[in-house]
Amino acid sequence: MRQELEKLGDEAKEKILQVKDEKSLEKVRIEFLGRKQGRITKVLRSIKNLPSKDRPLIGGLVNQLKEEIEKELKERKKSIEKEEREEYIDITLPGKKPLVGKLHPITQTIEEIKRIFMGLGFRVVRGPEAETEYYNFEALNMPRYHPARDEQDSFYLDNNYLLRTHTSPVQIKIMEKESPPIRIIAPGKCYRRDAVDASHFTMFHHVEGLAVDKKITFSDLKGSLTYFVHQMFDKETKLRFRPSFFPFTEPSAEVDISCIMCKGSGCRVCSGKGWLEILGAGMVDPEVFKKVNYDPEKYQGFAFGMGVERICMLKYGIDDIRLFFQNDLRFLRQF
Ligand code: PHE
Repeated sequence: MRQELEKLGDEAKEKILQVKDEKSLEKVRIEFLGRKQGRITKVLRSIKNLPSKDRPLIGGLVNQLKEEIEKELKERKKSIEKEEREEYIDITLPGKKPLVGKLHPITQTIEEIKRIFMGLGFRVVRGPEAETEYYNFEALNMPRYHPARDEQDSFYLDNNYLLRTHTSPVQIKIMEKESPPIRIIAPGKCYRRDAVDASHFTMFHHVEGLAVDKKITFSDLKGSLTYFVHQMFDKETKLRFRPSFFPFTEPSAEVDISCIMCKGSGCRVCSGKGWLEILGAGMVDPEVFKKVNYDPEKYQGFAFGMGVERICMLKYGIDDIRLFFQNDLRFLRQF
């Protein structure tokens, strides 16, 4: 009897070890310990048929075997669970980083410019990228013979439409619809037929601003642009207004900032000059006001326009405009 019990025990233990999943393990449990047909259960039940002197010894042995097998089942269950988990999760593997998207550096720069001017009470407006010659040139005091209207410089579409070369047409459209006071900035894509190189691309982004009211002066323009430059770069940055010409402003100026690399002492970035040109600006030409039926005797205004790529390149020390449009993640992830 004792030998038989040992054999039964060995058989059960071996089966428990061979089993690979919890379902088969449960089958083994039922085979040996099942309440009705379990092979060990049966032995337990048959004890009452033994001569009474043998009962305590055999009973003890069977109970011991039952406990042993229960323990083995429990342990095997645990190890199967662990094996299953490890099959799916190798905790020694390095984790996968979730890919987080970012805004393009040009979008980030436009957002920054918008934030600064909105702080000064400017409103953001937009307009179409395909414009008529009237809005892109004529209303801005660039008549038919003006050199900027040359086919070599602009992308012409059918029916006198062209891809806008600046976002100034948006200003005209707003002035046609609204009366002063006006304070707007117009960000957006512009197109020019430039040969592509490190500082030119056929498409680029502009932000233009316009303020019209009674008694607006050149000092308002200077104050607003100085505030902008100090916010965009830093408070140490100096500004210089150089007399210039634009058909839609009079007087006009080109605005330089002290070189942000060398602080004005002269370096490669500013070609030794200590200054970098960043935008064009001026007082709105009375001819432009006449086109939108504003009385130039009553209202004055200032306007400015800047290339977003240039601002972004200066801010981050980027030396080639083409990098913005190549979709190279190694470049884009840095911002
Ligand atoms: N529209 C000009 C340009 O395309 C920029 C500018 C805007 C200049 C407003 C003066 C005033 O470069």
